[in-house]
Amino acid sequence: MTDLKVKIGKTTLKTPVIGASGCSGWGLELSKFNDFDRIGGFVTKSITLKKKIGNENPRIREVYGGILNSIGLENNGVEYFVENILPQIKNYKCAKFLNLAPFSKDDLFSMIKILDRNEGFDGYEVNISCPNITNKKVNFNSSFDDSKKLLKGVRDLTEKTLLLKLSPSYNESFKIAEFAEKEGFDGISFTNTYIGTLVDVEKREFVFKNIQAGFSGPAIKPLSLFNVYKMVKSVKIPVIGIGGILNLNDLLEFLIVGATACQIGTGVLIKPDILEELSRSLEEYMKEKKIKNIKEIIGSIKERL
Ligand SMILES: Cc1cc2nc3c(=O)[nH]c(=O)nc-3n(C[C@H](O)[C@H](O)[C@H](O)COP(=O)(O)O)c2cc1C
Repeated sequence: MTDLKVKIGKTTLKTPVIGASGCSGWGLELSKFNDFDRIGGFVTKSITLKKKIGNENPRIREVYGGILNSIGLENNGVEYFVENILPQIKNYKCAKFLNLAPFSKDDLFSMIKILDRNEGFDGYEVNISCPNITNKKVNFNSSFDDSKKLLKGVRDLTEKTLLLKLSPSYNESFKIAEFAEKEGFDGISFTNTYIGTLVDVEKREFVFKNIQAGFSGPAIKPLSLFNVYKMVKSVKIPVIGIGGILNLNDLLEFLIVGATACQIGTGVLIKPDILEELSRSLEEYMKEKKIKNIKEIIGSIKERL
C-alpha cells in the first residue's frame, strides 16, 4: 500500500494536495473536475463577518509568469455562508477549511463562534495576509503586535483544525508564525501572494485602484519555496507550502523542503482538474520509486553545509 495521508491538527488528508483559497471558490465548481475522494481538500474563498463588496475593476491582470489580482475579499458574509453554502459542501469527502478574513478581533471571534456551532467542515484558515488590504489598522500581518492581539485566545474558541495564512511580503511573518504555534495553531499556510503592482504606460496610471495587487503563479515558485523552507525551520507545526505549484515536480520540491502538504492556487485556474491529477501522479511516482509512505519524502532534503 502506498500511503499518501498526512495529518494537520485533527484533520487527516488523503493526499497532501489542497486547493488554495480564492482559486477554489466554494468547491462547487472544483467538484465537477476532481474526484474529491482522491484529493486532500480545499480552502474556501475568504469569508468576512459581514457581506463585503469587492474592489473596483480591473481585478485581475495576467502578467509574465503569473497573475496580479485585486479582488478585495468579495463575499456575502458568514451568515449567508452558513445558510446557503455550507449545506451544499458539507458532504464532500475531502477536507474543507474555511478561510476567514477578519477586520478586527471581534470579527474573528464572532465568525468562529457562529461557524463552530455547525458541522460539515474540518477547520479554519485565518487569513491575515490579504495583499489588497491597504488600511494599516486591519493589515495585521504587517505588525507583530497587532497579530499577537488578534490571535491570542483563538484556540479557546474551537477544537477544529486551526491554520494561519501568512504573507511573504512582511518579515514579521516568521515571528507571527512562532507566536501562533505557541498559541496552539495547528499549521501555517505559506505563502499568500506577493505584493506587486502594474502600470498602464499609455495612461501613466496604476492599473489597480488600490495601486497594489497580489502576484501569484509560476514566477513566485522559487521565492515561495525558499520562504517555505525557512518557515519549516522556524516552527515545529506543519507548514502548508503554497506558491506557483503547477506540476508534480513543483509539488515534490515543496514536500522535500519540509512542507507537510501544499496548496494550489493559480494552477487550479489554469487546469481545474489539477488537484486530482497531482494526487494521482504523486501516487504513481511513489509506486515507481517504491516509496511506501509520503513521510519518506516530506523534509527529506539533504542539507549542505
Ligand atoms: C484570483 C485569486 C484570488 C485569491 N483570493 C484569496 C483569498 O480570498 N484568500 C486567500 O487567503 N488567498 C487568496 N489568494 C491567494 C492564493 O490562495 C495563494 O496563496 C496564492 O495565489 C499563491 O499560490 P499560487 O501561486 O499557487 O496561486 C488568491 C489568489 C488568486 C490568484
